[in-house]
Amino acid sequence: MKLGPRVAIVTTLLMAVALACAIWAVLAVLRADQVRRLDGEAHAMADALAAGLEPLTPSEAGTLLPARVASANARLGQFRLETIAWGTQRPNNFWAGLVDEASRLDAPVGQLFEPAGMPLFYAMAIPLHSAQPGAPDRQTSAFLGLVCDSSFITAEVMGTAWRLLPFLVLGILAFGILLYLTLRRRVVNPLRRLIEALDAVAQGDLTRAVLPGRDDEIGSLAGQFNKMTNYLREAREKEARATAARQTMETHLRRAEKLATVGQVAAEIAHEVGTPLNVIGGRARTLAKRPDDPAEVQKNAEIITEQVGRITKIIRQVLDASRKSRPSLTEVDVTRVVREALSFVEELIQRQHIEVSVHAATDLRPIPGDPDEIQQVCLNLVMNAIHAMKDGGSLTIDLEQLVRRKEGLALSPPSPYLMLQVSDTGPGIPVADRDKIFEPFFTTKDPGQGSGLGLAVSKGIVKDHEGWIEVDDAPQGGAVLRAFLPVGRGTEQRTRADGDTPAPVSENARQPGG
Ligand SMILES: Nc1ncnc2c1ncn2[C@@H]1O[C@H](COP(=O)(O)OP(=O)(O)OP(=O)(O)O)[C@@H](O)[C@H]1O
Ligand SMILES: [Mg+2]
Repeated sequence: MKLGPRVAIVTTLLMAVALACAIWAVLAVLRADQVRRLDGEAHAMADALAAGLEPLTPSEAGTLLPARVASANARLGQFRLETIAWGTQRPNNFWAGLVDEASRLDAPVGQLFEPAGMPLFYAMAIPLHSAQPGAPDRQTSAFLGLVCDSSFITAEVMGTAWRLLPFLVLGILAFGILLYLTLRRRVVNPLRRLIEALDAVAQGDLTRAVLPGRDDEIGSLAGQFNKMTNYLREAREKEARATAARQTMETHLRRAEKLATVGQVAAEIAHEVGTPLNVIGGRARTLAKRPDDPAEVQKNAEIITEQVGRITKIIRQVLDASRKSRPSLTEVDVTRVVREALSFVEELIQRQHIEVSVHAATDLRPIPGDPDEIQQVCLNLVMNAIHAMKDGGSLTIDLEQLVRRKEGLALSPPSPYLMLQVSDTGPGIPVADRDKIFEPFFTTKDPGQGSGLGLAVSKGIVKDHEGWIEVDDAPQGGAVLRAFLPVGRGTEQRTRADGDTPAPVSENARQPGG
């Protein structure tokens, strides 16, 4: 039951009980008044009878009284008189107590009797004396009994009760209805408006102001609510401004990172193209010197063709890398992206004698994302690993799909993610640096070697894809960086459940490569 009807019913019931008690008290007073009036009449009558019959000797009592009582009864109306005791004779019915009390007080004593199953009646014992008050031989010679049917008192009280009952019922009903309507107008409706406003807030509408003009407790509650929505609205606007500023900064960071990468790439290209150009130049000079030796011409032409092929390949890779479109959400085949990224740094890997292995689960499907951005993440992680293994080592890339809870959301339901894990056998990342490495411009590299933006940008990209990056120790002593990227809905059922850490790599489920 709702608050309004419940409070109205309980209050009305309490009110009904209180009114009933009040009416009961009024009826009791009315009854007591009636009894007092009857008692007064009986005493007046007793005094008159005593005055008429006294003095009465005990011997006269037995002979005279019956005739006197009979004649008095003819005039007494609703009262009835009887002789109840004379001389030493005493009654043994209800008169006994009254006679004892009357002889103790030496005065008339009356009482109302309410015998079970019989109508109410009043009885009074009147002592009669043998001499006038003050005479030395005065004694009680007889007792008269005065009886009156008092059922009229009950009838009067009940009649009053019945007359009051309709007023009582109507009054209580009117009170209940009025109370309910007042509660509805003053309490229930304002509370309902507050609840509607709370619902609106829950759905993101922070523009509502409720009950602005009220000055009672509900008004204060509404005032607090309005303050809260104002505060939330301001906080939301502040958050939006902060997000916009952060996005602008991230865009700048990415641009700075790209410029730094372009510089590195330019140096790499100069180095990569310089070597085959030297070879081509040398072979061309040999050709010019020995144009008549077909075998030599053949051999040098093949070497030149091979070196031109190498240069063409380098240029194609650079073109591929520079032909980046605007970030867009499409299907990304992460395995292909990883292999492409590795091909960009192939020469560097060979030069630093690094062994590369890629383990990709056979059932990986494309994930929603921006291929260029995911490639940038992959390249950053791979470049960091290569830079950490100056004297050679092994670089392992694992790709698998697993079910995880999103980082920092212990109560969120687990959902499927693609894990891109890059492990190396370098020196690893000191525990003290693990929080810092994602900060922009944090680098442990020599000046000019690193800008400290790679992981900051990668973290931003992965976060934009609703994922996160973790850092860990590799079992073989180096560093492990894991990027978790959400998998689209259609691939959920193929995902295996997993605990808080990835399970060891199963050789059956992966295909070696790299
Ligand atoms: N695989 C790794 N092994 C050891 N240290 C690492 C590894 N990856 C990152 N780090 C540490 O994290 C720091 C920050 O890396 P980040 O990629 O952000 O910048 P950077 O590599 O120094 O410069 P940039 O990538 O901009 O050229 C690195 O300087 C290095 O100290
Ligand atoms: Mg880096």
